[in-house]
Amino acid sequence: MRVLVIGSGGREHALVWKLAQSERLERLHVAPGSAGMAALAACHPEVKANDLAAIVALARAEAIDLVVVGPEDPLTAGLADRLRAAGIATFGPSAAAAQLEGSKAFAKAFMARHAIPTAGHATFEEAAAAHAHVDALARPCVVKADGLAAGKGVAMCPSAAEAHVAIDEMMSARRFGDAGDRVVIEEWLEGEEVSYYAITDGTRIVTLAAAQDHKRALDGDLGENTGGMGAYSPAPVVTESVEKKILERVVHPVIRGMASEGHPFQGVLFVGLMIDAVGDPRVIEFNVRFGDPETQPLMLRMKSDLLPLLDAAARGELAEATAVEWGEAAVCVVLASGGYPRAYATGKRISGLDDLGPDALSGDLVVFHAGTRQTADGAAFETAGGRVLGITARGDSVAEACERAYRAAEKVGFEGRHFRHDIAARALRR
Ligand code: AMP
Ligand code: GLY
Repeated sequence: MRVLVIGSGGREHALVWKLAQSERLERLHVAPGSAGMAALAACHPEVKANDLAAIVALARAEAIDLVVVGPEDPLTAGLADRLRAAGIATFGPSAAAAQLEGSKAFAKAFMARHAIPTAGHATFEEAAAAHAHVDALARPCVVKADGLAAGKGVAMCPSAAEAHVAIDEMMSARRFGDAGDRVVIEEWLEGEEVSYYAITDGTRIVTLAAAQDHKRALDGDLGENTGGMGAYSPAPVVTESVEKKILERVVHPVIRGMASEGHPFQGVLFVGLMIDAVGDPRVIEFNVRFGDPETQPLMLRMKSDLLPLLDAAARGELAEATAVEWGEAAVCVVLASGGYPRAYATGKRISGLDDLGPDALSGDLVVFHAGTRQTADGAAFETAGGRVLGITARGDSVAEACERAYRAAEKVGFEGRHFRHDIAARALRR
């Protein structure tokens, strides 16, 4: 098969790395891709992930059999609709179905219609009304920009004072642009957070696995929310009985509900959940694509061929009995630029990538590039984004994978390099 992956980050590097191993692959393309993936796939840096017309044209020109869409923006903009209209099989939901992620207000109303458990909430288009609501609540809450804000448009507010600041930043200072014209104010859920993944063709489901992300910038879940500072899989909080509840109360109702409302969801459903003390799940958010950085450990852990699974989902031919095979554990530690998720410098030369020892040679350690580019002399990589690299390792246990990942993380350097030291600590403490 000729396959085209859309995107350029760490998640896409992991998908490309995994798809490149498929027995069914004939040729792999990625648009725009990045220098870090150039050894695995033909990159098309001139075709940006949001340029829908250029992507359709590229897919036609290369006679692509399957397009796999990484990021959410092109999905909410209708990329999958355009590709399918052109007769090109596509893994990823329609714009209508992508609203599950693209609009928090849509997701909340959908969950209410289908009795899917989630945090209590209220939606505001006027700052004054939002401020008044916060004063009336008088308890911790979470203030969210309604639109897409790359995982950063969420403020955890232990007190009303913090909530007022967040509302001002979103609605008045417009820190997230149009995404903050509408804000959602939610009840603060207590518990342990987990990401759960299922692949669906619109009616049938094949479950993947659970992973745990680390959203806050600093150790101990302190600091601001980021796009994700590291992840690991499996997540021990998802026991068999918790998984059963996730499927019965969330995943199946979502797939049934989307189909019954006339916009079947096809692609990967990624549910962000809070699991409370008695193991009951509540939805924090839906995403309509693979998680970043969760995909990095998921791909390293996955033993089955990914391509037939994505292809079957895209064609509406998923076999529900498909059991995905997994290795024991994998961990990803993100190396970020100093200052991220706020302002940061780029263009810092990265050292140590070629010297990662036997783990890299055996394939137990893979460095996925998120925000890098080649230096002007072409001899090395330099930083080009907030999240720079995902140092990802597998092992016979989370502890072993963790050790491998951190050993490598220490060896890779650039000015301002920052990473969390407690990725997977929750699993190790159990
Ligand atoms: P979101 O973009 O909605 O997933 O929010 C980003 C992060 O903020 C989540 O991954 C959680 O860590 C946290 N968060 C969001 N909503 C809530 C909530 N209602 N209660 C507790 N934590 C939340
Ligand atoms: N890791 C969270 C996300 O991809 O949204």
